[in-house]
Amino acid sequence: MATPESFNFVHPTHYAEHGYPHDLWTRLRREDPVHWFEKTEGIPFWVVTKHEDICKVGRHAEQFHNGPRLVISHEPEVPNFFPPTLIQLDPPKHGIYRKLINKRFTPGRLRPWHADIENIAKEIVDSLIEGDDCGDGECDFVAKVSAPLPIAVIAWLLGVPKSDWNLLFDWTNRIIGASDPDFRVEGKTSAEAALDTMTELFMYFTELVKEKKKNPQDDLTTMFAHLEVDGEPLPEMDVLTFCLIIVIAGNETTRNATTGGMLALIEHPDELRKLQNDMSLMPCAVEEIVRWTSPIIHFGRTAQTDFELRGRKIEKGQAMALFYPSANRDEEIFADPFSFRVDRSPNNHIGFGSGEHFCLGAHVARLEMEFAYRHLLPRIEEIELAGPIDRLHSALVGGVKHLPVRYKLRRAEAAA
Ligand code: HEM
Repeated sequence: MATPESFNFVHPTHYAEHGYPHDLWTRLRREDPVHWFEKTEGIPFWVVTKHEDICKVGRHAEQFHNGPRLVISHEPEVPNFFPPTLIQLDPPKHGIYRKLINKRFTPGRLRPWHADIENIAKEIVDSLIEGDDCGDGECDFVAKVSAPLPIAVIAWLLGVPKSDWNLLFDWTNRIIGASDPDFRVEGKTSAEAALDTMTELFMYFTELVKEKKKNPQDDLTTMFAHLEVDGEPLPEMDVLTFCLIIVIAGNETTRNATTGGMLALIEHPDELRKLQNDMSLMPCAVEEIVRWTSPIIHFGRTAQTDFELRGRKIEKGQAMALFYPSANRDEEIFADPFSFRVDRSPNNHIGFGSGEHFCLGAHVARLEMEFAYRHLLPRIEEIELAGPIDRLHSALVGGVKHLPVRYKLRRAEAAA
């Protein structure tokens, strides 16, 4: 069993080798829910594991800031020269900037785009079948479905030309997976490699924003390019950071929820059958998948004044890591938290965060997963793992790089 001595909560390799340390988090929730951790080469920090505490921290955004360090590193900190994106802003600027764009992400405002998002999902699922209407097959589910899906949707929402979608895919892989051996750059730390990639992304979007100013379209980049605060156009750098946060936040998270959802359904065949027999459970199933997979492992906060949390004295300037997957197994909130149930209700998970920084793209992510599973699941006759899964080296996103699956599909008309 992992212990606070043997497991570094922010070390990417520990997550790649062991997956989520649920036994350790469970023990901490019971015995030391706000735990001081200093066995790391990075800065020491508080490990926050309870649902109630993470929600409390999320509600007090003026007290707990995202800006100083949104992600806690296992390496010594390096200065970050990039301008902060929305998720790194703090009150009052965060509220002002979020208000500029959040209406565009509500279920009502996204409705006109449903058909396009569904078409992207359907096209990707159909590529599994590759012209053959029915039969046995084997694939890496990540490569075929869950990786292309979110990047295609994000690229389409941002109005990126289809010929450049692969560029976006590569850049986001390199930023999120900067600590992973598959993406590591010789002679650079993960932070340095991530910063190099951010520069390439910034340069790309500088050109795209120029283009959208000349030729406005119905897409997010056009919207960002024309934003105003107090009657003045938004500074160009701020327009770019809006594009950047959508690309980064919307990609790896949804990819890993989609992969983790498929894995959970393979490991719980009764739940798969239940869902196949009653597709009206889909919205509920998607929430359970986000709870179960909790793709964001942690986000950091920095205390702005002394604060007492569950009897522990958090001092001004100290860092905290909020562990969402732990909160989503909190036995005080969820009945039988370690069972995966596609019809779980209520499901008050915080996989999309909680409070001021609640995920802006939550509904986009839900739609992507719903449409993909709606097209795929009715066609699955049988599905099983076809090899070992390969996890991402990251303490930010709990990722699966490859999910080899073997399946037998029904004919499209039989599934309809
Ligand atoms: C299953 C998929 C997703 C998960 C699990 C997820 C998770 C999260 C979490 C936990 C936060 C809270 C950050 C904090 O408290 O500091 C967040 C914020 C955010 N997410 Fe997501 N996300 C997902 C998909 C998306 C998508 C598809 C988009 C864009 C289309 C997106 C855009 C954002 C943005 C912009 C923020 C920052 C909001 C703010 O600071 O006000 N996310 N997300």
